[in-house]
Amino acid sequence: MTVYTASVTAPVNIAYWGKRDKSLNLPTNSLISVTLSQKDLRTLTSVASSADFTSDKLWLNGTEQTLDTPRTQACLADLRSLRRQLEQNDSTLPKLSEYGLHIVSENNFPTAAGLASSAAGFAALVAAIAKVYQLPHDMTEISKIARKGSGSACRSLFGGYVAWEMGSKEDGSDSRAVEVAPLSHWPSMKAAILVVSDDKKDTPSTVGMQTTVATSDLFQQRITDVVPARFKEMSKAIMDKDFAKFGELTMKDSNSFHAVCLDSYPPIFYLNDTSKKIIKLIHSLNDSEGEIIAAYTFDAGPNAVIYYDSVNEAKVLGLIHKYFGSVPGWDKLDTSSLTPSDIVADDT
Ligand code: ADP
Ligand code: CO
Repeated sequence: MTVYTASVTAPVNIAYWGKRDKSLNLPTNSLISVTLSQKDLRTLTSVASSADFTSDKLWLNGTEQTLDTPRTQACLADLRSLRRQLEQNDSTLPKLSEYGLHIVSENNFPTAAGLASSAAGFAALVAAIAKVYQLPHDMTEISKIARKGSGSACRSLFGGYVAWEMGSKEDGSDSRAVEVAPLSHWPSMKAAILVVSDDKKDTPSTVGMQTTVATSDLFQQRITDVVPARFKEMSKAIMDKDFAKFGELTMKDSNSFHAVCLDSYPPIFYLNDTSKKIIKLIHSLNDSEGEIIAAYTFDAGPNAVIYYDSVNEAKVLGLIHKYFGSVPGWDKLDTSSLTPSDIVADDT
């Protein structure tokens, strides 16, 4: 039998500016994210297609998962239809669009714990299938498909500082991810991931977002007043490599996002006591330095991303080790620093 295979890796990305999923996974506002290096946190997905495969299958971290969700099905349908067009134009191509797909994926970091596994996961899934199907290498197009799997996934296909433009069209055709600046623009920027808990979160991101949109008044204010202004300031802080401004905006936005979670009804709690201790620690560090040298952000989970400039690495990581390094149960705390990378879903 002939089996066609492809593998890709995709990195996680960390966003700040609030996010929204509707059926097409469109954000209610434009937002900015940083794509982290895939040296450390990454998804590796391999795909095989063969006439002998009668159905599509997915194994995630060694366990078979259903592919029967509307989001995954939307991605598969788009990819198959693009492949079908190629086959119609070139009758010598094997009819992969009619074959089953066997997908094997591994996240080397906690899944569904607020470290954006859905972003890396869907980015890798879509990129790997696009590769086995030999679709044209158009990242914007691939990114639009990945967005249907998980909103955040459209950004993991780009490196560096990425803006997800909300777009204005109803069908979402102009909502897309674009690069604000490559990582080489700000090489001293570092991020450390503090894995506070690798438990699966009890409110999946999509469910949490729907509750928030439907019930939170604070959210309405956030998307109309707070976020659009911050988006502009943040783009400027990145262009100017202004860490103090970048840090202040990052922390305020993280706090605003979690305030909105608390304002949802019923409320959603993503931060735990340890997360709150990390917040206090970073503020006391910045206070004692008299300037912002470190900034935290928390996605939809208790795990922290700490940004700092590499000149302050010893201070920032030293402090974290001092407070958390020796506490029982804290062996999971991973303070390895990550340099966000430009590498985008490539071969492994
Ligand atoms: P997270 O904070 O990790 O992004 P979400 O609740 O947003 O958590 O998404 C978790 C879901 O993303 C998983 O339940 C799974 O459906 C999907 N997912 C995660 N990793 C992968 C992967 N490698 N391949 C395919 N789907 C994945
Ligand atoms: Co997610």
